[in-house]
Amino acid sequence: MIDENRVGAGALSAAGVPAEQVLAEIRELRAADRPTHGGRLFAYVYDPAVPGLDELAAAAHRESAHVNGLDPTAFPSLLAMENALVGAAGRVLGGGPGTTAPDVVGSVTSGGTESLILAVKTARDAHPEITAPRIVVPASAHAAFAKAAHYLRVALDVVPVSPDTLRPDPAAMAAAIRPETVLVACSAPSYAHGVVDPVAEIAAVAAAAGVRCHVDACFGGWTLPYLRRLGTPVPEFDFAVPGVTSISVDLHKYAYAPKGVSVLLHRDAALRAPQYFAYADWPGYTMINPVIASTRSGGPIAAAYATLRHLGDAGYLALAERTRDAVAGLADAVRGVDGLRLMAEPESTVVCFTATECGPDLFVLVDELTARGWHTQPQLSYAGLPASVHLTVTASVAPRVGEFGPDLADAVSAARAAGPVQLPAELAALAGALTPDALTPELVAGLAAGLGMGGEPDGAPLPERMAVVNTLLDAAPPALRERLLVEFVGLLQRPTWGSDD
Ligand SMILES: Cc1ncc(COP(=O)(O)O)c(C=O)c1O
Repeated sequence: MIDENRVGAGALSAAGVPAEQVLAEIRELRAADRPTHGGRLFAYVYDPAVPGLDELAAAAHRESAHVNGLDPTAFPSLLAMENALVGAAGRVLGGGPGTTAPDVVGSVTSGGTESLILAVKTARDAHPEITAPRIVVPASAHAAFAKAAHYLRVALDVVPVSPDTLRPDPAAMAAAIRPETVLVACSAPSYAHGVVDPVAEIAAVAAAAGVRCHVDACFGGWTLPYLRRLGTPVPEFDFAVPGVTSISVDLHKYAYAPKGVSVLLHRDAALRAPQYFAYADWPGYTMINPVIASTRSGGPIAAAYATLRHLGDAGYLALAERTRDAVAGLADAVRGVDGLRLMAEPESTVVCFTATECGPDLFVLVDELTARGWHTQPQLSYAGLPASVHLTVTASVAPRVGEFGPDLADAVSAARAAGPVQLPAELAALAGALTPDALTPELVAGLAAGLGMGGEPDGAPLPERMAVVNTLLDAAPPALRERLLVEFVGLLQRPTWGSDD
């Protein structure tokens, strides 16, 4: 019989749970996560390992968590902090008083993806006369451009990158520009390999065609300028480059702010104007939004503000130095192991390596590294580029570098001993032959079970070793990879109904 008074389900307890117990539950859940601190996780988190910084950011977040960015006149504190963040980002990226880009303006967004969607939207809406707009991006551009194109119904023209330099040819970028092109984009640096595109050349061809040029510096925009100051040769990529019309930089990456903050900059206010959305044609408040979200918490903005104020220019320079040295140490470790080779000489904060012809199975190697407490990111083979292992290197890695080399060598030996993943014949045949449309729910469930994914309601959602899953995905063409991942993640995203208070 249904108890009419019992409304608890999932996170909603029936009678309320004491604060300490709730926090204990969260800590217990968190125990299954990858370690966000300690310098052994090479993706997803950016840890400067600065004592007291987490506490400061959390306190600042708390101060402003309930402030709403929806209305800057009601909450001028948030407007002031946003403007200060934009000023800082503009300055770091070659704009502001006394530069060749004195009129830089910008907005704070929730992350790199939102910044890129807005950059594309702004470029699109600057040309209402173009009915079928297009953007040109290198194949190495972040997937968020594809998401932007998809959301905004803008066609994506992808220019291949050279397998040697991992960069696009500016002439090929120029050739891809059509009368309907509203934006040309490039990366500084690319996420996958950490290489800086030829921004000056690409911006020049865009300008010659009268098209906007966006530099996606979401990943490295906060470190490249500091690396340059430390003597690393960094090509021009910011507003000092004529023709660059907008730049994105994520503060929740190398500015080491807690998640939820990126900045989208435009060279001037006229270029930014189409970014805004205003709506007065309803009976409620007139809506005027510079970014995609309407209600926005002040928490991430205040936390980012506190982080920048506390670390300061000198702090970022010191962190960049530590990161640079960690990158050099990790790259040396890779060079020192037979069977591996760097995809590119590191020029920013990424170390990316692949296996040589007689090297180990990379996906098995990734599992062996995980077993040794190193969390790396496997990247699938794509358009002539081999599968690779990506390391996003942050300052917290520096004290760990000496431990990485021996563990890497050991993991390679173990991966060699284990041999490459042998996909069960029927799985391999499926990956090669299936078309995304042919995937039925039954087929997906069978595949997931065969791969040890999805788990039973209380089981682990993913198998401990991912090499088989990665091998299957690697064998599939991108459209099938996408479809399989959507289905697999759909299996993970199931409501929990139980309540045990
Ligand atoms: C170059 C680049 N652009 C955009 C993004 C998307 O950022 P976010 O995950 O904050 O949406 C990333 C994320 O890694 C990135 O590296």
